[in-house]
Amino acid sequence: MPVSLCDGVYWVGAVDAGLRDFHGYETDRGTTYNAYLVRDRETALIDTVKKGFAGTLLANVAEIVPLDKVDWVVCNHAEPDHAGSLPEVMAALPNATLVCTEKCRQTLALFFDMTAWKVRIIGPGDTLPLGDRTLEFVQTPLAHWPESMFTFLPQDGVLFSMDAFGQHYGTPERFDNASDLDAVMDEAAAYYANILLPFGTPTAKAMAAAEKLPVRMIAPSHGVIWRGHLDRILAGYKAWTAGAVCNKVVVLCDTMWGATERMAEELAAGAADAGAETVLLPVRKASLTRIAREVMDAAAVAVGSPTVNGGIMPQMGAVLTHLQGLKPAPKAAVAFGAYGWAKGGAEGVQTVLEAMRWEIIAEPLRVQYRPTEDDLRRCRETGAQLAQKAAEKAGAGK
Ligand code: FEO
Repeated sequence: MPVSLCDGVYWVGAVDAGLRDFHGYETDRGTTYNAYLVRDRETALIDTVKKGFAGTLLANVAEIVPLDKVDWVVCNHAEPDHAGSLPEVMAALPNATLVCTEKCRQTLALFFDMTAWKVRIIGPGDTLPLGDRTLEFVQTPLAHWPESMFTFLPQDGVLFSMDAFGQHYGTPERFDNASDLDAVMDEAAAYYANILLPFGTPTAKAMAAAEKLPVRMIAPSHGVIWRGHLDRILAGYKAWTAGAVCNKVVVLCDTMWGATERMAEELAAGAADAGAETVLLPVRKASLTRIAREVMDAAAVAVGSPTVNGGIMPQMGAVLTHLQGLKPAPKAAVAFGAYGWAKGGAEGVQTVLEAMRWEIIAEPLRVQYRPTEDDLRRCRETGAQLAQKAAEKAGAGK
């Protein structure tokens, strides 16, 4: 069912509440594919939905305007969660012209046969008059893909911001002020950490462009629309794009027979006793999505793996690969792990931490088979050192 943002502007997208895997991102709360309709003397559809949801989108549009009265389909982003239904949508809108940049057209042409589509290419500074309203286009390359752009509706102050400011939050509410704001912000942080973090500089540029506009509402392509708490999401993006860290220690561990987990517990206890917010995440129980979200704004991280086959545990390998790709701001860090007759776990972790240019504060902590009381005391002391470093790094960022 369509939802009105303001007079003549509607959400016409689809809710995918049951989705739990978005190309590897674990979506505990599902997601939405947001599309919007702007109705004036001419009518524009802004973005579409993932393949399989075209029927929902078109039914929503048809509640507002006959399908043959849609004049324009704006494509802000060619990724299939927003453009995957374009073939069905363009076929169902006989009088619509696709509006996109040349870069976007080139990308779409790699996905779809576009020969039957009418296409208008727009460039920097171009606008699309609809009547009393005008759409303005803001190029935002690499926030998230090279062809990404924002569309702005100045008469109503609505910024259609594509992936930026979005959340995988697939609830029936469409607005931030009708939602559990803490949950929405947590999902917005997870979204940034897992999708946009490697594109922090382009996203900061996109934000700077948005800040020059008289924005009253931010309508992203996922999750709820920001109209009551723009200050919260803009402050979040300011911190996240700047790589700001807080006084938080994250302890990541895998374990075979419990020794590395005992080390992790003592590291976490040492950090917590020293005053840091402390998060202990056994990596086979926590999702990659949650791990990336927690690591993003942590000032210090301890990473532990026992030795298996001369190296690190497989799931810890997946975690470190994910983190390396995301390129979070450097952390104070330490590697740790138990071993038996051959080393390799803590050493393998240390190699990756060094490759990420994290600030290694101590030699890897190793124990053979089972930690002694002295080993556990060393872990606790190292946790306290990490907490001290976290406080320093968080304080330096203020
Ligand atoms: Fe929601 Fe980059 O697509």
